[in-house]
Amino acid sequence: MKYIPAFILSLFLLTSLSNSYAQLPHINEKQIAARVDSVLALMTLDEKIGQLNQISYGIGWGPTVKVAVPGEYAQMVREGKVGSFLNAIGAEYTGELQKIALKESRLKIPLIFGLDVIHGFKTTFPVPLGEAATWQPELAELSAHYQAMEAASAGIHWTFSPMVDIARDPRWGRIMEGSGEDPYLGSLMGAARVRGYQGNLSDLNIIACAKHYAAYGAAEAGRDYNTVDISERTLRDIYLPPFKAALDAGAQTFMASFNEIGGIPSSGNRFLLNDILRDEWGFKGFVVSDWNSIGEMIAHGNVPDLKHAAELSFNAGLDMDMESRGYSEFLEELIKEKKVDIKTIDESVRRVLRIKFILGLFDDPFRYCKKEREDKNIMNAEVKNASLEVAKRSFVLLKNDGGLLPLSKDLKTIAVIGPLAASKEDPNGEWACQGAAEDVTSVLEGLTKFTNEKSKILYSKGCEIDGVSKEGFSEAVEKAKQADAIILCLGESRNMSGEAYSRSSLDLPGVQEELAKKIFDTGKPVVVVLMNGRPLSLGWIDENIPAILETWFAGTMTGDAVASVLFGDYNPSGKLPATFPRTTGQVPVYYNHKNTGRPGNPGNRYTSKYFDLPLTPLYPFGYGLSYTTFAYNDLKLDSEKITKDQSLTVSVKVKNTGRYDGEEVVQLYVQDLVGSVTRPVKELKGFQKILLKRGEEKTVTFTLTEKDLRFTAADMKFKSEPGMFKVYAGTNSADVKEAKFELTE
Ligand code: BGC
Repeated sequence: MKYIPAFILSLFLLTSLSNSYAQLPHINEKQIAARVDSVLALMTLDEKIGQLNQISYGIGWGPTVKVAVPGEYAQMVREGKVGSFLNAIGAEYTGELQKIALKESRLKIPLIFGLDVIHGFKTTFPVPLGEAATWQPELAELSAHYQAMEAASAGIHWTFSPMVDIARDPRWGRIMEGSGEDPYLGSLMGAARVRGYQGNLSDLNIIACAKHYAAYGAAEAGRDYNTVDISERTLRDIYLPPFKAALDAGAQTFMASFNEIGGIPSSGNRFLLNDILRDEWGFKGFVVSDWNSIGEMIAHGNVPDLKHAAELSFNAGLDMDMESRGYSEFLEELIKEKKVDIKTIDESVRRVLRIKFILGLFDDPFRYCKKEREDKNIMNAEVKNASLEVAKRSFVLLKNDGGLLPLSKDLKTIAVIGPLAASKEDPNGEWACQGAAEDVTSVLEGLTKFTNEKSKILYSKGCEIDGVSKEGFSEAVEKAKQADAIILCLGESRNMSGEAYSRSSLDLPGVQEELAKKIFDTGKPVVVVLMNGRPLSLGWIDENIPAILETWFAGTMTGDAVASVLFGDYNPSGKLPATFPRTTGQVPVYYNHKNTGRPGNPGNRYTSKYFDLPLTPLYPFGYGLSYTTFAYNDLKLDSEKITKDQSLTVSVKVKNTGRYDGEEVVQLYVQDLVGSVTRPVKELKGFQKILLKRGEEKTVTFTLTEKDLRFTAADMKFKSEPGMFKVYAGTNSADVKEAKFELTE
């Protein structure tokens, strides 16, 4: 089996990127502050308020070609009434707008162009949930780097990404946009994306935005935009860490979320936007609202009208208004009425101008508007290759009974069946930005190309993703009967996850499971290839289909990546970043839950469980198979006790006991057995992805320190507490070896 091991891949890619991975250059804050103040001193109140106004360039989602700037926008720019556009795309488009700002506005303050570059600009990479399944932050950094390169070449300065919302409920469609359920993995992935986007702030980098601040993923019942009511402890220990990690990685902007927490919508939440973000964490960048989230406070019901909404948001610490127009309409009045202080306005304007200086826009406002770069950098071979490599590593092998996979390259006839088999639209996933279906390789195309006429490929759609018609079943069964192996492509359409796409059922939509049953009945070997933006409940499929490969929405190179994995050119190494439930009724189900006073026990009725389901999920967090097998032995701690100043070395032997070389994500979990407040049954504290040749054994070591054991204790201090801890190491969150140690004073 030949593939590029992860570490070699990252070395190769890192060197090929020359110095674009350098840390953020030292920002000369003093010098920038002086320049910012010199601009501020010239500004009228109107112009200041203009900087805090972001509007959508209504025609932005078109192709990246030049059109005349509509008069309404041109006038706003001329009058200094807008500081930023979102959705204006293209070196020439944005250049035209910038020209108006520079040539026709009084102060010539450059505009900043924002866009949702979530998992690609034109070349799409796997959706972030899939990318998290690589458990390789260096790949998230790499893909963000390329996304930035394409976007920056098309005039974009700023992405509304990474989304670092923890999601414990897969009904929530936006679980697809983040890194899943775990704060530790989510923090590493979020930070990596920030580094990848911002790089060293060259003109091929873009500013990152950590969103949606905060706890947007905790929406009740997984329904998008819904109420959130969580404790401050859960907020701090589960939902905030990835935001802090993004900030520590240098994220220069944050986006306030749509939801309320305990009665206070984030866009008017001073505790979040000011006390935690600025006072506690020292954030220096600016906060943008979500789309009309200021105005939506009227519907939330904590303000009577847009004027009050603007007052509340602004005084809470929200600097830039995306699309509610509350700031542009009311800030001046609010100042006159002394409800808003001009000093606070100046502070927010400073923050926005600071970013424009950091981006170099005052020095060269057109540095992102070069058509030649756009032509050269978008969808070039290097970007597509990177997308392919990330895609392969994002797949999770859920089942492989009898070693059905990898498929033999000598198969005479292969049937490729199912509503996602030939789809070129869906693999792009939601938030595909400029990604176009015609640029995507479908699974059918990928397999056809890979087998290169050595195998005969038969195709039948079978049914729609979400339809009721079974008319296509008989043709699909006929084709299946003629084949030596069947690749059955099932799942969700791209727009069943993402914003506003919550589902009340996690089952396969439509009649897909029925199609699977008919295909299974042919008695031929069946491999299910799944495409979906969230964990699914796979009941019958899991019980009956021998091989299942989860591919999420893998982007532009989907078909090539799927073919390479199915035929074993790449041995799958992804692990689930979110738990797969047995049924929808089991959610929220996540690995780092609490024990309760009556931990679930199948033999005891009066314990915490469902009487109609096993205690366990279908596939636990961290789960994923390989074509080879791994054995874990000799979990050892170098000490049974550590003080707060000492560290603990944990080692475990991992052996490749199967038939192929392969990569394994070795996972380390900790459990604090007694705390001043109850503690999760397990928390991920480390992982390493290693390559083991067939028969090879390696000792993997981790270091734990007191810092890793901290949490928000009963006194609300973030600290560790002395006592006994369990350490777990293994191949997923459920299948682990364990040992114990004590933390002493
Ligand atoms: C989404 C944000 C996005 C914004 C701008 C909102 O509806 O919640 O994630 O960045 O739109 O497109």
